[in-house]
Amino acid sequence: MRIAIIGTGYVGLVSGACFSDFGHHVTCVDKDAGKIDALERGIMPIFEPGLDQLVARNVAAGRLAFTVELAEAVTGAEAVFIAVGTPSRRGDGHADLSYVYGAAREIGEMLRGPTIVVTKSTVPVGTGDEVERILREVAPEAAISVVSNPEFLREGAAIEDFKHPDRIVIGAEDERAAEVMREIYRPLYLNKAPLLFTSRRTAELIKYAANAFLATKITFINEIADLCEAVGADVQDVARGIGLDGRIGAKFLHAGPGYGGSCFPKDTVALLKTAEDAHAPLRIVEAVVKVNDARKRAMGRKVIKALGAEPRGKIVAMLGLAFKPNTDDMRDAPSLSIARALEDAGVAVRGYDPESMEQARSLLPDLILCADPYEAAAGADAVVLVTEWDALRALDLKRLAAAMRAPDGRCATTPDCGHRRRGALLDRLSGRAGAIDLGGFEIGDVARAQPERDQGEGRHDVEGEDARAEAVRDIRHLAREIGAEREADHGRAEHVGRAGGRAHPRKHDVLKRCHGGADPRRAEELRDRAGDVEGS
Ligand SMILES: NC(=O)c1ccc[n+]([C@@H]2O[C@H](COP(=O)([O-])OP(=O)(O)OC[C@H]3O[C@@H](n4cnc5c(N)ncnc54)[C@H](O)[C@@H]3O)[C@@H](O)[C@H]2O)c1
Repeated sequence: MRIAIIGTGYVGLVSGACFSDFGHHVTCVDKDAGKIDALERGIMPIFEPGLDQLVARNVAAGRLAFTVELAEAVTGAEAVFIAVGTPSRRGDGHADLSYVYGAAREIGEMLRGPTIVVTKSTVPVGTGDEVERILREVAPEAAISVVSNPEFLREGAAIEDFKHPDRIVIGAEDERAAEVMREIYRPLYLNKAPLLFTSRRTAELIKYAANAFLATKITFINEIADLCEAVGADVQDVARGIGLDGRIGAKFLHAGPGYGGSCFPKDTVALLKTAEDAHAPLRIVEAVVKVNDARKRAMGRKVIKALGAEPRGKIVAMLGLAFKPNTDDMRDAPSLSIARALEDAGVAVRGYDPESMEQARSLLPDLILCADPYEAAAGADAVVLVTEWDALRALDLKRLAAAMRAPDGRCATTPDCGHRRRGALLDRLSGRAGAIDLGGFEIGDVARAQPERDQGEGRHDVEGEDARAEAVRDIRHLAREIGAEREADHGRAEHVGRAGGRAHPRKHDVLKRCHGGADPRRAEELRDRAGDVEGS
């Protein structure tokens, strides 16, 4: 089957690479000549584990090509996928469909033989109707079918998700189009991935309903986490207690600083606009959007409070900037709201992330970027762990503590941030807890507590010591599981994340093992633990 993909962003590139791996002949088009040029030289525009090898393999096999010339891709293609962006429209939050409609118009001008035009972008109900109208206007003679095939992949696990989807949703209005789609996805169908055929409008709505539901689940557990904090309960146990109920399920119950990323924020708002236009308000989703927006900023205030009466002039290190681990995507990341709240309060913010430093540079111009977590923590009054990269779980706490500003009575943290919270942090670092409290200044607590104890000045915190010892054991255990043992033992675990940047073979090796190595179920469990702010 010959396939053209319009838009070589996250979805277009991953879809194109995976389709070619199934054996189809795929040409990916993008208007961004720099991106295409880089791809032709084997340089990926995004960080996604395993993508570079997948692309290289299929380019070498002659099944995958990149171009800026639409005609080159569309001529002779049996199916043309539209995978361009649908960002929030400035001012009103509706999905901006100008890229989709622009692509449809350009495709129409190229169409000759019978072609299936498939919308893979996330688009509001009725977009397929308009795409079809545009195509018929531009190419009245062409035999065209317009199909909706929304994508559910998660950044950071995109290839695995594409190749092992929970379901493939296909909104087709005629049998010929359904047949072509069945043929395209046949390799997955043989693997028993369910193909769900629906009407085009239904398929379009399924994508938004899925994202809104997942955003609701995350927001629900985040509010429960606040309640847990207020009443002295443990949100991890609550999440486990409810997640074991088969009707609820354990996924997306990791409390954290609010959902972010390229999809949930814009898709929930766009769904509200559709509902408003259809006079069928979605009040639950309205609340979810409000609660989540407020939460991200509140996390910044929480850190400011922990810095004490005079935060101005203090230094905070933010570890993890991407909206979730294993991606360099910072679109709507909670780190942005937190950093801006801190900067507004006169706090100097340092940042470190294994992959998203370049993105951070443009989005947060005042952020001081550091080469590693320890450099970020040097002289800092607090350290905020925002994104749960595996490399950050295995931090050397002693080294982190030694790097931070020494405790001298000007400690930002009040006594009630005592061992209970330190225990929570250690749990988190050992990979057992989710992000309840953000955890950032909790690291500060640990770091401050450590020299106190070493110097014999602080209170003797037996419970904290036990937790620390347990954490070290757990970190080693976790490190062994993800194949990072040597790095952890040598106090260089952060190198797993940063060593050599994108191309470092050891990092890819570790990530590969973590992303479906010898024991895929274990890898899945680790990924779940890592994903306190997951999402597609
Ligand atoms: N990122 C995700 O994880 C994810 C997951 C599921 C669905 N989606 C949806 O998929 C769509 C694409 O998302 P993305 O993150 O891949 O977007 P992106 O912004 O990363 O990439 C879009 C690409 O399309 C290109 N483009 C725009 N108009 C073009 C045209 N006329 N011809 C050729 N190229 C063109 C842009 O240059 C850009 O490279 C969105 O609707 C998004 O909501 C994204």
